[in-house]
This record gives sequence, structure tokens and C-alpha cells, in this order.
Amino acid sequence: MNIPIIKPNIDRYVDSVKGELVRILKSNMVTNGEKVKALESEICKKFNFANTVALSSCTSGLILGMKELELNSKEIILPSFTFCATAHAASWNNCKLKFVDIEEDTLTIDPEKVKEAITKETKAIIGVHMYGNPCNIKELVKIANDNNLKLIFDAAHAFGSKYEGKYIGGFGDFEVFSCSPTKLFCTIEGGIFTTNNIELSNKMKTSRNYGSPPDYNCETIGLNARMTEINAAIGLEIFKDLDRIIENRNQQAKLYFKELKGIDGIKFQKIRENCSSTYKDFSIFIEEDILGFNRNSLASYLQKKGISTKYYFYPPIHKMQVYKDHNNIKLPITETMSKNVLSLPIYNEFDENVTMTVCEEIKKHINES
Ligand SMILES: Cc1ncc(COP(=O)(O)O)c(C=O)c1O
Repeated sequence: MNIPIIKPNIDRYVDSVKGELVRILKSNMVTNGEKVKALESEICKKFNFANTVALSSCTSGLILGMKELELNSKEIILPSFTFCATAHAASWNNCKLKFVDIEEDTLTIDPEKVKEAITKETKAIIGVHMYGNPCNIKELVKIANDNNLKLIFDAAHAFGSKYEGKYIGGFGDFEVFSCSPTKLFCTIEGGIFTTNNIELSNKMKTSRNYGSPPDYNCETIGLNARMTEINAAIGLEIFKDLDRIIENRNQQAKLYFKELKGIDGIKFQKIRENCSSTYKDFSIFIEEDILGFNRNSLASYLQKKGISTKYYFYPPIHKMQVYKDHNNIKLPITETMSKNVLSLPIYNEFDENVTMTVCEEIKKHINES
């Protein structure tokens, strides 16, 4: 048996996209072309975004966005329970990182902890929509407004998630989504930046192109962070399929809930009320004192059965060797969650047999322990 944790399922689009890829290659116009513009415009239309900038990755969007908000060397509040890129992007801007804890049920940044962490030096907050579950946006917007702080959302997981009926995007100073192969909307590699601020959007368009306007008289120190035409063409094809993909992932999550919800010792992430998740990941929380085995033992058991899982996210950022100055801070919920959370296989295509097999093997391990 071989059940991977992730399947990008890009092979589904080979036939529908190959003609376009050949046309792009034959045109010799492989960057700065029409496909990138078309993808930006389609995303704006469907999600009702004011401005969208397609990039080479979510990480480059976070780095450049923070730079354009002039956060260089400033104090910034962020969760530690996230992927390294959230903190790395702030570190590329020499920001002073202030890690705070998350809410135990939603696994998103705790607004109360954000309030406690604010000092005179604080200039920004980063929220992460964990696994696609939106943060407490309303409360974070209020805190940012009351304290005159910039508000950034690392929306890497949340392309297509909804907050109170509205697609994620346009809530903070900016959001950035990831389109890498582990994400449900994949452009092979890529990132989508969105903001209501047209000036910021224009700056990002210059920044993704070395900071160089057409006359080469650079306005800012940018990067090469462009999305190519090939990536955008693949993105356009997959974007047409987004509703079906999100529905499929939600169906898998529903089946996991149904099969595992009665088990004492397994807990789930709570999706915020009036919100929907893309289920970029489906993660369970293992209570060792009840089950008699820990997360790592379950992961090894499943691996032996050919089922891959991931520790998203372990170690938490404040415990990483590269962030050694933060290793001694205490974030109890983050530390508990990252030791006990296990992400299970979930795909854009729904195969009931896969989800059922994973659940059956989890139940077997419980019965044998
Ligand atoms: C929370 C979070 N932020 C940022 C990123 C970086 O995205 P990218 O690989 O597109 O740069 C990821 C990637 O998985 C992520 O999980």
C-alpha cells in the first residue's frame, strides 16, 4: 500500500493545458505576458479582490510586502505555530520577532495574546490561516486599528477559504497565498498577493521585477519574483476547477470527522463559526494520556502500513535552531499542539477508499495498543 500525504493531481490537467503550454513556448513570450495578467484578473473577478499580483512564491510575496510596508527592522507579532516561511520573511526584513501563542481549538493566533504582546515598538501583526481555517479576523482588525499597526495575513493555506461568507483576501493590509505543489491551487510554484491598496499593489508589481520600472531607473531594491507564463497557464486551468477541488477536500474532511469523531483521545481543529476551510491539511490531535501512545508512534505505525503523514508544524519556529534567541520563550499551547498534531492524507481528488483505509488503520492501532 502507498498512500502519500499529498498528491498535487496536476496530471489531471495535462490534456487540457498542453496546447496552451506549446503555444506559449512557440511564442517565445514566457514571462511578463498575457497569462499572468489573465490569472490576476480571473482571481480578482471570482474572489472580488481589488488588486492581485502573481508572484514566484508566497515567501517572495511576504518578503516584498513587508518591505513595501516599510517594516524593515520593526517589531512584529506573529505565531510560532506555522511554517518557517512566515518568520523567515520577517527575518529577511530584519524584523524583531515577537512570537505569541495560538488558540487551542482553531490553531490560529490568539488575539488576547497579541494584545498582551503589543509594545510601543510594535508595528505589525501577522496572522496565519492555519490549514485553511481563518484567523479571528474581526478581532485582529480591531486590534490593528486601535494600535495603528499593519495587519498581514499569511494566507498560504487559505486560497478559497471564506470568512463570514467572503473569500479570504482584502481583510488585512495584504494577504499572500501559496500555489506550491502541497497546496490545493497549484501553479507548480507560485504565490498570489492581494491588497485593497492600489499603491501597494503597483509597488509590488515593480518589486517583483527587481524594483525596476520600464526605464531601468530602479525605484526600490526588489527581487526577481515573477510568475512565468507557463505557471500562470497551468494556474488558469486549475482555477476553473477550484470549487470542485474545495468541495472534494471538504468531503474528505467530513468522512474523517464521521469515522474518527467518537474516539476518545482524538481531537480536531475547530473551524471558526461562519467560516469555511479549504482543508489544505486535515490534522488530528492525539491525546497520549487517553490513548496510551503518542503522535510519533501513530505516525510510525501508519508509515509501516504505507500511509504517509506529516507533523505540521513541528518544531514550532521558536524552537528551531536558526531562531536560537527565541528557544527559551514559553508558548504552552503551541508546544503541546506541535508535539501532538498529525496531518493525514487529503487530496484534490476524493477517493473514499483512501480516507477509509487511513481511518481503519488508526482504529486498528488504537485496538492493538
Ligand atoms: C504558512 C505558510 N506560509 C508560507 C509558505 C510558503 O509558501 P511558498 O512555498 O509558496 O513560498 C508556506 C508553504 O507551505 C506555508 O505553509
